[in-house]
Amino acid sequence: MGIDVACGTFFDVCGIVGYLGDREALDIVISGLKRLEYRGYDSAGVALAADGAIEWRKKQGKIANLVGAIEDDPLPSATIGIGHTRWATHGAPTDANSHPHVARRIAIVHNGIIENHAPLRAELEAAGAEFTSETDSEVAAHLLESAVAGGAGLVDAMRQVVSRLEGAFTLVAIDAQDPDRIVAARRNSPLVVGVGDGEYFLASDVAAFIEHTRDAIELGQDQVVELTRDGVNVTTFDGAPAQTKAFHVDWDLQAAQKQGYDWFMRKEIFEQPHAVADTLLGRLNDNGELVLDEIRISPEELRRINKIVIVACGTAFYAGLVAKYAIEHWTRIPCEVEIASEFRYRDPIIDPMTLVVTISQSGETADTLMAIRHAREQHAKVIAICNTNGATIPRESDAVIYTHAGPEIGVASTKGFTTQLVACYLLGLYLAQVRGMKYGDEIAAVLGELERMPQEIQHLLDNQAPILELAEELKEEPSILFLGRHVGYPVALEGALKLKELAYIHAEGFPAGELKHGPIALVSQDLPMFVVVPPGGRDQLRDKVISNIAEVKARGARTIVLAEAGDEEARKHADHFIELPRISTLLQPLVAIVPLQLFACEVATLRGHDVDQPRNLAKSVTVE
Ligand code: G6P
Repeated sequence: MGIDVACGTFFDVCGIVGYLGDREALDIVISGLKRLEYRGYDSAGVALAADGAIEWRKKQGKIANLVGAIEDDPLPSATIGIGHTRWATHGAPTDANSHPHVARRIAIVHNGIIENHAPLRAELEAAGAEFTSETDSEVAAHLLESAVAGGAGLVDAMRQVVSRLEGAFTLVAIDAQDPDRIVAARRNSPLVVGVGDGEYFLASDVAAFIEHTRDAIELGQDQVVELTRDGVNVTTFDGAPAQTKAFHVDWDLQAAQKQGYDWFMRKEIFEQPHAVADTLLGRLNDNGELVLDEIRISPEELRRINKIVIVACGTAFYAGLVAKYAIEHWTRIPCEVEIASEFRYRDPIIDPMTLVVTISQSGETADTLMAIRHAREQHAKVIAICNTNGATIPRESDAVIYTHAGPEIGVASTKGFTTQLVACYLLGLYLAQVRGMKYGDEIAAVLGELERMPQEIQHLLDNQAPILELAEELKEEPSILFLGRHVGYPVALEGALKLKELAYIHAEGFPAGELKHGPIALVSQDLPMFVVVPPGGRDQLRDKVISNIAEVKARGARTIVLAEAGDEEARKHADHFIELPRISTLLQPLVAIVPLQLFACEVATLRGHDVDQPRNLAKSVTVE
């Protein structure tokens, strides 16, 4: 079986779970995998060490398929187990390519990419190893097996193996002949330890074990962790004791459940008033000044900054596009926004006077991580905006502003986006404060408006009925366009992305003014077009957008106009009018995106799609 490395190796994003304790490992591993299924759902598998043997099942498709396979062919009782849910980036997600990979007494699960798998595989095959999959991961199983067969303990064997691997990996292994130990290693790929009462967990994300314990240990780069029935031991790849950081997860199981909603995504849309309020909480000191506790960059250094570069992917990138308008307006510092996967490959001009702001809900997105590593090599300062405590990106940044959205499980980001916007506004205001670009009362006025946002978002959510009706009307449309101008443009892009990724409908966002330079050719009779209208009365922006609506309406488009309550002129051009609260221009995205999120969620539901797990996607993409 050949692997065409030039066309891409088989590798994974994936969720990983490990359990060692006194309960049925299978139940705990399966429930953990279900909570990680957002990370990938192409296949799933589990392995247990029971009665001196490795027992495993693995199955293509969602975890439900694996559960069915285990019902048909039950596994023995065991108190130690590992599991995996996979998002394949290349190659068929077959049963054989699923994890775990088993080599005699050893079973492993792997997340990442082993870049030098081809020579390792050739070497192992020459020595008689029999491969059963096309994955890069399987080499780790055979290498470990040959090390333990040679007499090494599992921890030493893991150290020997990682010294031979190139690339990114979280590897978790069990040995049938040592059923009181799980060993894992981590390089450039997420892994956290959960510490329960006489039981221990390993997972890509705390969500996997939150129902059992909220006490966790953050692992650093290039560390080996050993779970035994007596505790947790963390060392470096060389065997030296390693520094670790314990933390307590500040949300609970309820937050990781659907609580009566049909989808996590819908629940997360409705959590936005709370999430925005929590992200704003505790940001002012007794003198009414903005304080960002986690900013470990001194005011002097922030005053020296002469350029800001925001790097992010997907929805976080669109939050960054909005941030540019606010940051440049408030601070007068030039601000660029760049897709993280493009950033370092164009040799960007950055130096110690550049502030790089990285936005990532998960804090694990590989493209974003690589971008900040590149930035730090150029001695730029890096601030992360992140929703995940202890994730790799905030750990590798100089400073972090945490969004306090709680766990976001729906693959399509919603409360992640709005809380990222809030964090961007806070950062912009903080820079303006530190650099003396705004008076205290000006900053307080924006903060006051931000504090009103939870109730404004709530008002929109309470009045969702027209959006749901619109979804019913437009659910069969093959194509829908979104227009916006100024900060409404990123909102249009995000609205279109939501619809693409959830409803699989062709959707595009355009700057309203650019339409006449080409995209207007797409406009045909009855083509639905959402248009985000900026608030009126402050400058000419709104009037220009109204003209843009008239242009498309004249060509037969069906217009769905989002404009502030009382904008009668906008209403005149609207086949459907969605009322937004009165908000200042720069903050309008916080409310304008909400109807678009609801619309995409509802259209996808009506079309019968899995809203939380859209096809081909994964929430946390930990490969480049
Ligand atoms: C994936 C997800 C997107 C997300 C993007 C960035 O592509 O499907 O919803 O916006 O990653 O994720 P991050 O965790 O870095 O914000």
